[in-house]
Amino acid sequence: MKQHYDLYDEKDLLVWKTLFDRQTENLSDKASLHYLSCLNEISGVLNNREIPNFDYLNKFLLERTGWEIEVVPGLIPVHDFFYLMSKRKFCSSTWLRKIEQLDYLEEPDMFHDIYGHIPLLADKRYADLMQRIGALGVKFSDNSNIIEGLERFYWFTIEFGLIRELGVNKIYGAGIISSFGESKHIYNEGVDIRPFDIIQILETDFDKSSIQNLYYVIDGFDQLDNALDTLISAFKKELEI
Ligand SMILES: [Fe+2]
Repeated sequence: MKQHYDLYDEKDLLVWKTLFDRQTENLSDKASLHYLSCLNEISGVLNNREIPNFDYLNKFLLERTGWEIEVVPGLIPVHDFFYLMSKRKFCSSTWLRKIEQLDYLEEPDMFHDIYGHIPLLADKRYADLMQRIGALGVKFSDNSNIIEGLERFYWFTIEFGLIRELGVNKIYGAGIISSFGESKHIYNEGVDIRPFDIIQILETDFDKSSIQNLYYVIDGFDQLDNALDTLISAFKKELEI
């Protein structure tokens, strides 16, 4: 599939610009410095002036970290998703929400996929981690426990992860990055924010249909690499018993 860039119209551009401006201002004191510096570095091809053109984004990413975008119609089966990630291809939709639904989405649109996920793929360590998740998903594709573990890991880190920076909880998970409401919600009283714990995450189911109330904070991306080692050895041990 391809992005049909000529099919976007003025209304789409208005939606993109509105979302981009509102969220970039909102995130200035909330997003991880890793994300903000990547967003700045990629700003020649990802900005509020134009709807992102995947050809330009791909050129930028391929040169930086070898990643590129794979256009998909929407959510795809997890095995396909991991396979593409193992090849350094990140799945994105090309449709954009309407102005009447700026804050409500049933499925991820291009703002979530691109604004939420793509900037950090310019960070080498993060880009390598993402590929590793995919490669493990391929390697253990017939082990449903490991696949479920990887999905939970992905959910509580890549989608909804927080990172401690200079004593403050900052956002790096794309699900929060791309949501105006959720990026404020995490600072509300009563939200359950815990130190990152891979064993706990492996035992925790998640609900895709409502706003999260449980988040895990990492100290740095190194921790995620170590957690993947723990994840695999935990299940390997189980296999041996
Ligand atoms: Fe996502």
